Amino acid sequence: MKIISIVGARPNFIKVAPLHRAFQQEAKITSKIVHTGQHYDAKMSDVFFEQLQLPQPDYFLGAGGGTHTQQVAQIMLAFEEIIEKEKPDVVLVVGDVNSTVAAAMVAKKTPGVLLAHNEAGLRSFDRGMPEEINRLITDSISDLYFVTEMAGMINLAKENVADEKIHFVGNVMIDSLVHYRETAAQCGAMEKLGLHPKQFFLMTMHRPSNVDYQEGLESILSIIRYIAERQTLVFPIHPRTLKNLQKYGLEADLRAIDNLILTEPLGYFEFLQLMDNATAIVTDSGGIQEETTYLQAPCLTFRDTTERPVTVELGSNELLADLNPVTANQKIQQILDGKWKKGIVPPLWDGKAAERIAKILANLK
Ligand code: UD1
Ligand code: UDP
Repeated sequence: MKIISIVGARPNFIKVAPLHRAFQQEAKITSKIVHTGQHYDAKMSDVFFEQLQLPQPDYFLGAGGGTHTQQVAQIMLAFEEIIEKEKPDVVLVVGDVNSTVAAAMVAKKTPGVLLAHNEAGLRSFDRGMPEEINRLITDSISDLYFVTEMAGMINLAKENVADEKIHFVGNVMIDSLVHYRETAAQCGAMEKLGLHPKQFFLMTMHRPSNVDYQEGLESILSIIRYIAERQTLVFPIHPRTLKNLQKYGLEADLRAIDNLILTEPLGYFEFLQLMDNATAIVTDSGGIQEETTYLQAPCLTFRDTTERPVTVELGSNELLADLNPVTANQKIQQILDGKWKKGIVPPLWDGKAAERIAKILANLK
């Protein structure tokens, strides 16, 4: 049973690491990794291979940058050659990024290859979001569906996916968190940045709907000022966001804010240690909504929909429907006043999702 797992963007590395580890425990499985190169900076890619003990990828496709169409097209062309050569039994794609959908389409058009999608069934119901298109296409052609939360099961059933193809397995991103939480606690990032537990906020922002236009960035700056006047704010900045701040001439305004620690993207251990100690996390990330739910840490998500409703229904996440600084500041004050829900950990988010997936795949043959 030869499985090729596809990675490309930051969250993919964190999801595939426990899968690769679990595959190695199964005698029947040979596990190979293809890196599309969608993310290529050392801080967006290499650091995760080092920290999460992922082996160097078997193939690197170098398809970073460019438009969505260019990315998808380059990945498809390069991956087609690899799939012909390797003849895998299964191609495993994770999440909802361009690398996911590009590899999925190539796999599905190759006779004899099973396409497995991990994190299947999630829907934001917002087709303006590139990831929603990637999810819909990938799930419309997959052979095996690994699901993280009940909403995924319901959505797939509504889309008439046969029951026997769907497996509720839990969340591999949480597998990484469980596996590395103690290691991360020793990584020294708190000391290095001069931080004290529950005395700082942590922020990430990278969704096009928030950072690709000037008014969005200006609202975010205003919210940052409000937070930094009350507690230290750590903001590891995503390359998309930095490029847009530069494009709209707002970088200097951001750098001028007192009590703001602006950093490059952080390594997994460093970011996890900070999440585990922050007063709250303000974000628009998909995965961070899940990680904060597991950690039962207050999370305010700057999005009007989430494909991960369990983080709001059971977890510690709340959405901010528009980028309105007044409402955002009220929510931030609510956190500072200690009036935020704690939530509970969703079913099967127990660190064992990858083992379940490996067992299912090993038993296919
Ligand atoms: C992508 C995913 C998004 C995911 C995010 C994780 C898609 C459609 N989007 O968004 O779902 O949440 O990754 O972080 O797949 N760049 C660099 N260095 C890098 C990577 C990117 O400079 O290592 C710059 C490039 O100029 C690139 C831009 O950032 O054009 C955006 O990168 P891209 O991968 O297209 O989208 P993300 O915003 O990172
Ligand atoms: N993350 C990280 N360093 C950072 C910011 C995020 O290691 O500076 C991790 C975070 O813990 C989570 C993942 O990156 O595991 C989330 O990736 P991202 O927000 O880029 O993508 P999304 O989940 O929105 O697709």
